[in-house]
Amino acid sequence: MKIYRTVDYQEMSRMAASILAAQIQQKPDCVLGLATGSTPIGMYDELVRQYQDGTLDFSLVKSVNLDEYKGLTREDEQSYSYFMNQHLFGRVNIHPENTYLPDGTQTDAGAECTRYEEVISRLGGVDLQVLGIGRNGHIGFNEPADSFARATHCVELTPSTIDANKRFFEKEEDVPRQAYTMGIGTIMRARRILLLASGADKAEALRGALYGPVTPRLPASILQFHPDVTVIADEAAFSAVR
Ligand code: F6R
Repeated sequence: MKIYRTVDYQEMSRMAASILAAQIQQKPDCVLGLATGSTPIGMYDELVRQYQDGTLDFSLVKSVNLDEYKGLTREDEQSYSYFMNQHLFGRVNIHPENTYLPDGTQTDAGAECTRYEEVISRLGGVDLQVLGIGRNGHIGFNEPADSFARATHCVELTPSTIDANKRFFEKEEDVPRQAYTMGIGTIMRARRILLLASGADKAEALRGALYGPVTPRLPASILQFHPDVTVIADEAAFSAVR
């Protein structure tokens, strides 16, 4: 595991973007695994800047996102599909047909999860998976549990995640209660993983993930078993590591 400690969010974002940019330059038709949430926004802004400067070309890049709320359409402003269009896809020359997310409108959860796993396999797997970390140590929507979920599945969100995500909605009742997410097995099959964390509210989760026991009670701790993980986190996120 390579661990980088940055001064702040901006430096974390720039460093993360440089790793994605290098991946795209080395393999222009790479498969990127992407995340939503506050953490990667600065990284996406930096990638857009490099695209606008003419130094980065997304024309062959393919992407698969970690997760999507169940019950939201792609056009819903709270959907992760909408988020990705706003922050990245709509601002660079990636082909929309090369961008994949679970389909939140599918009510047959089993069929949708199988379809999404097949999409990832058909693309040849993920070259570089970007992850944020929840305050409870979740990755994707893999919440603390008694065991690690292997494949893409449908989850009930925990009160802690609903609480953390309500800032994006008008009221807490509007936060969907279920989501589709890649499983821990899906994430662990990515060839490389980039974990990002910013802010003191992630400090305990990050410490546990990097230095605590590997346990499904702190899902990100499984990353200790992955052979190629890079962690970039700012000083605040490292504040619990002494
Ligand atoms: C987002 C995702 C989540 C977030 C995590 C951190 O696609 O899968 O696991 O990465 O909840 O969210 P932020 O970055 O908003 O703190």
